[in-house]
Amino acid sequence: MNIRIFESEREVDLAAAQYVAGRINEKPDMVLGLPTGGTPEGMYANLAKMVAEKKVSFKTVTTFNLDEYAYYDGTEPQSYRVFMKDRLFDHIDIPNTSYHLPSLPKGRDAQACCLDYENAIKAAGGIDLMVLGMGGNGHIGFNEPGTPFGIGVHKTELTEKTRSDNSRFFASEADVPTAAITMGIGSIMRCRSIIMLVKGAAKADVLAMALSGPVTQAIPASVLQLHPFITVFADSAAAAGLAARR
Ligand code: GLP
Repeated sequence: MNIRIFESEREVDLAAAQYVAGRINEKPDMVLGLPTGGTPEGMYANLAKMVAEKKVSFKTVTTFNLDEYAYYDGTEPQSYRVFMKDRLFDHIDIPNTSYHLPSLPKGRDAQACCLDYENAIKAAGGIDLMVLGMGGNGHIGFNEPGTPFGIGVHKTELTEKTRSDNSRFFASEADVPTAAITMGIGSIMRCRSIIMLVKGAAKADVLAMALSGPVTQAIPASVLQLHPFITVFADSAAAAGLAARR
């Protein structure tokens, strides 16, 4: 595992964007996995700028997002589809048939929706580079603590901690959905390479447990210690606990 530590969140944003753009330039038809949340917003802004400056192009890139709230059809303002369009897809040159998000609309069979997404990833040849954020309880995607490591795309209930963390994107916590569809830890571990972005002092303890503690289902991100090609991009605030544990 590589760990890159930066002075500020802005440096993480820029370094992550440069890394992703570099990988796309090496393999212009790459398959890219993408996260939502506050953490990657700066990276997305930098990537949009780099596309405008013609330093990178998404014309032949295919993307798969990690997760989406359950029972959303992707038009809701807080849906991850709208988030991704607002932050990235509407500002870059990716064809609108080339980006994908999981979807479990009301009335559809959860297992069938999960299988469809798993098969779409397989049909694209698997994910070359997955970009991850990490939740405040160590979740990746919406794989909450206790999720079995081998699992593929699945429907999951959200913990109170995650609903409260994500309530800042909603009018109130009661409006935060209680379930989601997400790539599983098995789906994430199958990606050929991974970068994980982590920012802010509030995640310092959980990052230290994830990277330097035992590999345990209680801290889902700890499974990444077992991945052969992972780089963590952290600002110094998030990385504060790492030195202490080494
Ligand atoms: C959500 C997403 C995760 C993301 C996490 C962290 O729960 N499902 O994929 O990593 O939030 O969010 P933030 O970056 O806002 O801290």
